[in-house]
Amino acid sequence: MAEKRVAIASDHAGFEFKSVLKKDLEAMGYDAIDLGTDGLDPVDYPDFAARMAEAVADGRVAWGVLVCGTGIGISIAANRHRELRAALCHEPVSARLARAHNDANILVLGARITGIEVARDCLKIFLATAFEGGRHERRVAKLA
Ligand code: RB5
Repeated sequence: MAEKRVAIASDHAGFEFKSVLKKDLEAMGYDAIDLGTDGLDPVDYPDFAARMAEAVADGRVAWGVLVCGTGIGISIAANRHRELRAALCHEPVSARLARAHNDANILVLGARITGIEVARDCLKIFLATAFEGGRHERRVAKLA
């Protein structure tokens, strides 16, 4: 069931965040699909946004988490893929509204910007919040 699977990917700058958030996903009962990177050696963030897009497009996951240093590069890259609505969040209110209003399917975090405890809260609230639909439905439809 894709709903209980969450893909997670980062570049080298987000690798340590990814390790913590992956454990949190597992503790919350999700099957965490790790799309890399696998260490601190420099890599290119667009490659990991592309892996995320493939995982969503082929139905492996419905949700994902992407991390880079600022969150900016990987969110720009992610939003070039039609399957992804990626929201860069620095605090939990944005994480909640990204789901409720924008039906975001990808949470993006910046490991050099956001503290890990704030990031962990963002992840929890992102996954716990449903899309409100209603007036937001038409706006989200226009993104496609
Ligand atoms: C990598 O050094 C860094 O540029 C990258 O993680 C990210 O912050 C880009 O937006």
